[in-house]
Amino acid sequence: MTSKCHTKYQHLKDDILSDFLNEDISASNPLRILLLEDSASDAELISYNLGDLQIPCIIEHVINKEEFQEKFAIRFPHLIISDYQLPQYTGKEALVFVREMCGFLPFIMCTGRINEETAVECIKLGADDYVLKDDLVRLPSAVKSALTLKTNKAQKDKLNLDLAISEANLRAIINNSPSNIYTIDKEGVILYSTKSRVNSSVSEGTTVFDHTHPKNHNTIRKNIDLSYQLQQDVEFEIEGSENLPFYDWYRCKMGPIIKDGEVDKLVFIPHLITDIRKANVELKSVNDRLNQLNSHIENVRDEEKKKIAMEIHDQLGQELIGSKLGLYWLKQNLKGDLAQKSNELNQKVDDLIELSTQVINTTRRIAYELRPVVLDDLGLLAALEWHIANYNKFRETTICELNLNCDVEEFEKEISTAIYRIVQEALTNIDKHAKASHAYVKLNRHQNKLELTISDNGKGLDVQKALNSKSMGIFGMQERIKNWDGDFSLSSSPEGTEMKITIKLTKD
Ligand SMILES: Nc1ncnc2c1ncn2[C@@H]1O[C@H](COP(=O)(O)OP(=O)(O)OP(=O)(O)O)[C@@H](O)[C@H]1O
Ligand SMILES: [Mg+2]
Repeated sequence: MTSKCHTKYQHLKDDILSDFLNEDISASNPLRILLLEDSASDAELISYNLGDLQIPCIIEHVINKEEFQEKFAIRFPHLIISDYQLPQYTGKEALVFVREMCGFLPFIMCTGRINEETAVECIKLGADDYVLKDDLVRLPSAVKSALTLKTNKAQKDKLNLDLAISEANLRAIINNSPSNIYTIDKEGVILYSTKSRVNSSVSEGTTVFDHTHPKNHNTIRKNIDLSYQLQQDVEFEIEGSENLPFYDWYRCKMGPIIKDGEVDKLVFIPHLITDIRKANVELKSVNDRLNQLNSHIENVRDEEKKKIAMEIHDQLGQELIGSKLGLYWLKQNLKGDLAQKSNELNQKVDDLIELSTQVINTTRRIAYELRPVVLDDLGLLAALEWHIANYNKFRETTICELNLNCDVEEFEKEISTAIYRIVQEALTNIDKHAKASHAYVKLNRHQNKLELTISDNGKGLDVQKALNSKSMGIFGMQERIKNWDGDFSLSSSPEGTEMKITIKLTKD
């Protein structure tokens, strides 16, 4: 607003501004004219002439400074008509007061006589017109033109005010943006830059290419062209470099500013992501190290199991067989009196032979489960067949079928171990949780990819719960395949559960 306005009167000023703009002068909201005139007869004459206005109006007549200013404190009038000379106040003083209150309020000086100099001074001070008291017939048209003039000015002021507010909002948004904002032309020249907090060397007149690593220049050029041609927003990333000279990493947005239907320039907002990127690199390296450690631990565990299995199989197994042979020997040598006397003794030896046969079988099974020797000796196919045969033998409720569509013997040892352990855990899960009558293990190969599917026709599961479960089975399966860029998916329906694992046989 160009006018100066006392804050005490601000709400009143806003009122009158909106009255002017909304043109809501009517019988219920008449034009309020404040008339400052000490002579009662002059005031009557003026009021009489205003009758020709043909606009509903009320005239509030005041005779001195105090009454005049008091009216302003209550409500602003729409228009002021003032005498030039009063006993203790002048029309000029009243005009100065009004202009301090509000720049656009229409003010008409109405005087008996006025010389040219005074008239010019009044206009300079902001009077809209002056009317001589012996020419009052001119008053209605003077009022109308002052009102029209002021309505136009009020409209302009309002527009300027709205523009100023919207500019201030925009500036506040720009100033508080975490990224610098630039406008650039077709050649990447920076036309405007918010005052950079991040990189003060980026100034107007330089180009975006001056501040970015050369390896990004093609990308930037391509995106500038794209945004110009398609009149579209684009997004891309700029790579930095950690070597000297140092360049930052940015995620960038670019969008066209359209003028007369054509792209005039582009807005360019590079968002600094150097720290995020560094943190990501660090996180990835920590993850890689954890994965390596994990697979090392898996290998160590497998080796340990293998050792224990061999100990059980070779040492304990042999010794048990030795004691079983001893029992056979005892049975054969229970001769003569001793044998005849003791049927009971014979029976005991038979029981012991039977028991040691069971213990030998159990030991073998434990040894195989720890590390099936077949996996090392005969390979994955034989180990899977053995495991599934055993599974079917010991579980009466679930029948498992194995379906192999590839030559499984050619995989590296770690892959064979991983597949074997995953099948082992998945079948244990089916046994423990699924209540299924059938389970299926399928192994397919598609070029470089090995696909293992284990499914059952059991009760199904809650996939999210199973994946987030604190137990180790499913988590361990996912961990095992990480070394080969593996994919793990779990799905379930009321018809059962399916688990699909894909691993890459050769690394890219
Ligand atoms: N085939 C399946 N059918 C139904 N539910 C299953 C099946 N497999 C897994 N689940 C569910 O998923 C959960 C997580 O399985 P996971 O193998 O991770 O743990 P667990 O078998 O409970 O314990 P752990 O394997 O550590 O001894 C299980 O507790 C079970 O509720
Ligand atoms: Mg489990």
